[in-house]
Amino acid sequence: MKEVNIATKIYVFENLNALPKDVVKLMEKAAEARKKAYAPYSQFLVGTALLLDNGEVITGSNQENASYPSGLCAERTAIYYAGAQYPNAKVLKMAIIAGSQNKITTAPIPPCGACRQTIAEYEIKQETPIEIYFMGEQGKVVKSNSLQNLLPLVFDKSVL
Ligand code: THU
Repeated sequence: MKEVNIATKIYVFENLNALPKDVVKLMEKAAEARKKAYAPYSQFLVGTALLLDNGEVITGSNQENASYPSGLCAERTAIYYAGAQYPNAKVLKMAIIAGSQNKITTAPIPPCGACRQTIAEYEIKQETPIEIYFMGEQGKVVKSNSLQNLLPLVFDKSVL
């Protein structure tokens, strides 16, 4: 038996204004989309914005359901829409902003496991990395240069 250490890398920005201007704009679009979240059960609102290589910006928010598992996260709402509308476009950047309606969320909120698996699928399909930025309602912003950094040991088509 040998121990294997897996290293990953992320970058932490002190606040939104420390980011490049184009990413600030993308995060602002994610914040706008967050206002359209339908989250009556969790009161946890998430917005996301994707920049595609054709210049389009696709936004999404979480959409909940009385049958809880039928709801969908913001990230998957947006990336599935992008895949459905622009199947040949590549996703260059993804901005995510999330927080509770009941308190101020200052911790950066990473995409959930199911969303990471979904983003991985599209990153592998397009053969180029997706830059991912995520934050709470305010405060620090985390950047990952690729979904790979957020999901080591990914399950992908190579094993099928
Ligand atoms: N949610 C997202 O939209 N994205 C994530 O990555 C994590 C969770 C949503 C799902 C649900 O509507 C609410 O946040 C609470 O889990």
